[in-house]
Amino acid sequence: MAGTFDNPEIVQEEVDVLLIGGGMACCGAGYEIMRWAEAVKAETGKELKIKLVDKAALDRSGAVAQGLSAINTYIGDKQDPADYARMVSNDLMGITRDDLAYDVGRNVDDSVHLFEEWGLPIWKTDADGVRHDGAESIREGLPALKDGGQPVRSGKWQIMINGESYKWIVAEAAKKALGLDRIQERVFIVHLINDKNDPGRIAGAAGFSVRENKIYIYKAKAVLLAAGGCVNLFRPRSVGEGQGRAWYPVWNAGSTYSMAAEAGAELTMMENRFVPARFKDGYGPVGAWFLLFKAKAANAYGEDYMTKNKDMLNDYPPYGQAAVPASCLRNHLMLKEMKEGRGPIYMDTVTALAKLRETLSAKEVKHLEAEAWEDFLDMCVGQCGIWVGENIEPEKKMSELMPTEPYLLGSHSGCCGIWVSGPTDLGAPTKEEYSDVPAHLPSGWNWGYRGMTTVKGLFTAGDGVGAAGHKFSSGSHTEGRIASKAMVKYVLDNADLKPEFDETADEIAAAIWKPVKNFLEFKDYTTAIDVNPNYITPKMLQFRLQKIMDEYVAGVATYYNTNDKMLGVAEEKLEMLKEDAQKMRAKDLHELLRAWENYHRILTAEAHMKHIQFREESRYPGFYYRTDKNFVDEENWHCFVNSIYDKKTKKWTCFKRKHIDLVDKSKLFKAAAPH
Ligand code: FAD
Ligand code: ADX
Repeated sequence: MAGTFDNPEIVQEEVDVLLIGGGMACCGAGYEIMRWAEAVKAETGKELKIKLVDKAALDRSGAVAQGLSAINTYIGDKQDPADYARMVSNDLMGITRDDLAYDVGRNVDDSVHLFEEWGLPIWKTDADGVRHDGAESIREGLPALKDGGQPVRSGKWQIMINGESYKWIVAEAAKKALGLDRIQERVFIVHLINDKNDPGRIAGAAGFSVRENKIYIYKAKAVLLAAGGCVNLFRPRSVGEGQGRAWYPVWNAGSTYSMAAEAGAELTMMENRFVPARFKDGYGPVGAWFLLFKAKAANAYGEDYMTKNKDMLNDYPPYGQAAVPASCLRNHLMLKEMKEGRGPIYMDTVTALAKLRETLSAKEVKHLEAEAWEDFLDMCVGQCGIWVGENIEPEKKMSELMPTEPYLLGSHSGCCGIWVSGPTDLGAPTKEEYSDVPAHLPSGWNWGYRGMTTVKGLFTAGDGVGAAGHKFSSGSHTEGRIASKAMVKYVLDNADLKPEFDETADEIAAAIWKPVKNFLEFKDYTTAIDVNPNYITPKMLQFRLQKIMDEYVAGVATYYNTNDKMLGVAEEKLEMLKEDAQKMRAKDLHELLRAWENYHRILTAEAHMKHIQFREESRYPGFYYRTDKNFVDEENWHCFVNSIYDKKTKKWTCFKRKHIDLVDKSKLFKAAAPH
């Protein structure tokens, strides 16, 4: 019997493997896992039960929803995975897991080759060095990448694609592999369930339909939690009529980090954030402009701040030696101009396109000018709206750049996330090197199953994997594939395992539906539905969270500055916010979704704040500054900051984990740089 708004139906299902999310990582997992499941069936006759659950619809869900115009991680034949691990480390100020980056680097091209096989048009350079976009390359019969076709590189690691339908293509392959019966769309997972007999093990997950009055509870031996990063925990620059516009997709609300934390998984580098410098107001990407069009950004007086302020790089590792300064340091140099009143900052699109005209054929120029628009049409259509609305023709008028509000993610130019087990065959450090690790933690970087968190059976990929940024779309897909193989192994190794919940189905359902109960109980107390002393709307609560984070935890209001005292205030205010959050109301399913996104955001925000508080330095200048510790302290803080949340006491414990370079980083330095 279908449920009602005051009494939802509870649907229960038992599976071997549950995939949470339908983005790049889960599409990779969905595609790959069926190949292993089929092999298991052929060998043993056992059919693994698999389910993928996404809060949205796979075809257009996640960060790739709008499409992309470049694949940002493709190794190719001119560099190797160790070069890639070096780049990742350099961009993230030296504290990343080389084992994870290297593992992505050695596997990622295979995913890109699959995308091409599935129909994604990839730009190619022909034998005469002439560039062709993806559609033309197909028409001209240029060879596929796997057959030696040469991509058009926008940057050292990035290749150009005709990618408006990128997500459709990748989702279609996952759907075809899984079959529609194994996919449940429009179910928002809110909660992971631990095992009754072993609190350090996963037993399942629960959520609700955003279309019907139904609660879904899944029992599972292995769970892949890959629900993206977190947006809108800080007050966005676009408010009022522009609210809802952000660089990061507004539907990823920190579910990965908060649910993992509540299940007891060790988080890592949650102090890290990404503050992308973007075309102002439309949040249009800059990569193609900097790398493909070779545009320069300048202050309002035409000064190239990267040149003018380059000595500022000497204050931070690797002390001006990097061939390409880290993303945060590029912001750092830009922010100096803004703070000292020489803004706005402009992307000089006019000079860049004029210069290209000097060397390219008329046809190539025309194509590139079209690409200036296509780049946005493919992946950020709102920026075209801004250009049209503001009479901007990029060959005639420059566009403003602006650092955005902070976002938390682990697969783009950020590295917050969950601490996972690395590959078994790469230089895992010895146990002795980890004598400083608290006893309840596993030693080393590997405990058997690649991609598994410190909670048994709980895996992650993409934005979920911490200390290993710069995976991007292709690397996230790859990580999903790698994790799925490990999950199948885990399920087979634990054939006799019978997961049991540490909560009853009724308790889970009551917790999920609490915002609805808050509404139904008090709605008649006032005549105005939004004004009520007994509940708060999710929208209002979100404003409160964003205000706290913006003003005290280094948002745009303070030019990304905070200090120990401000963090102390934030800590207190977040505590009160959490208390009041218990009174969030949901007047319909949409608000229930909004309420639960807020719960996830609040815990993610708290983790971010606690980590910034714990790390007594400013490791990412340009992303945030602790003005009371405004330096990078290599001696004391060249380490991971990890944390564990206790869902019973609701307390965080932060601690240091030793950082070790597995790949020689000296090649990073200019003198030895490969180009
Ligand atoms: P996503 O792909 O974001 O997927 C997350 C999934 O989780 C979604 O399906 C979502 O619906 C689902 N979900 C969220 N919460 C829940 C929940 N509680 N319950 C159930 N499901 C949930 N990469 C490139 O290679 N090239 C680019 O040009 C590029 N541009 C980018 C531009 C932007 C604005 C952003 C944000 C990213 C860009 N990337 C680019 C990076 C790439 O998009 C990400 O690295 C990749 O999508 C991460 O994969 P993921 O699976 O971890 O997360
Ligand atoms: S996108 O994901 O929305 O396309 P963005 O345009 O910033 O992001 O970056 C695309 C790629 O270009 C990323 O790999 C990023 O690290 C790189 N990139 C962007 N700007 C620069 C720059 N100025 N120098 C070097 N690399 C850059």
